Amino acid sequence: MGIMQMKIGVTVVGFVLIFLTGYLLNKAGQPFNVIVLTLHKLISIATIAYLILNVMRISRVAPLGQAAWIACIAAGVFFLLTVATGGWLSAVKTMPAVVQTLHKVLSVLTVLSTIAMFLLFCRR
Ligand code: HEM
Repeated sequence: MGIMQMKIGVTVVGFVLIFLTGYLLNKAGQPFNVIVLTLHKLISIATIAYLILNVMRISRVAPLGQAAWIACIAAGVFFLLTVATGGWLSAVKTMPAVVQTLHKVLSVLTVLSTIAMFLLFCRR
């Protein structure tokens, strides 16, 4: 297996676990299971850290093009906004429906921009 495939594989596993634990949180509702919520947060942070580290490594080997940088920044911004809305949802007693929707939409946008980012890395 190539190095890029391995990086993509680890990222896919990270996202699958984030979505699975997110689905479980949503299904069971409040009060959230502390273990599932902690896993959801930790895997999110670990996946972000892994992606940042790899973007830095990949861009050091060969400079990234403009489109690849735009995809990286979009993925980073969507990821941070997903974390912010997630933090909001886990901190309040009654979750505002609009924030729940935002968390869901932003999580999908994070995945889509991450896919775009890897596609642009592979095309180089
Ligand atoms: C530390 C950061 C995060 C916190 C504190 C957090 C918190 C939460 C909470 C409390 C829920 C349940 C909300 C509900 O019942 O509607 C949830 C659901 C979910 N989260 Fe997160 N989250 C975080 C990061 C992320 C990230 C980075 C992603 C994806 C990129 C993500 C994707 C999801 C998904 C897909 C759901 C299920 C939504 C649904 O089925 O309605 N979360 N999260």
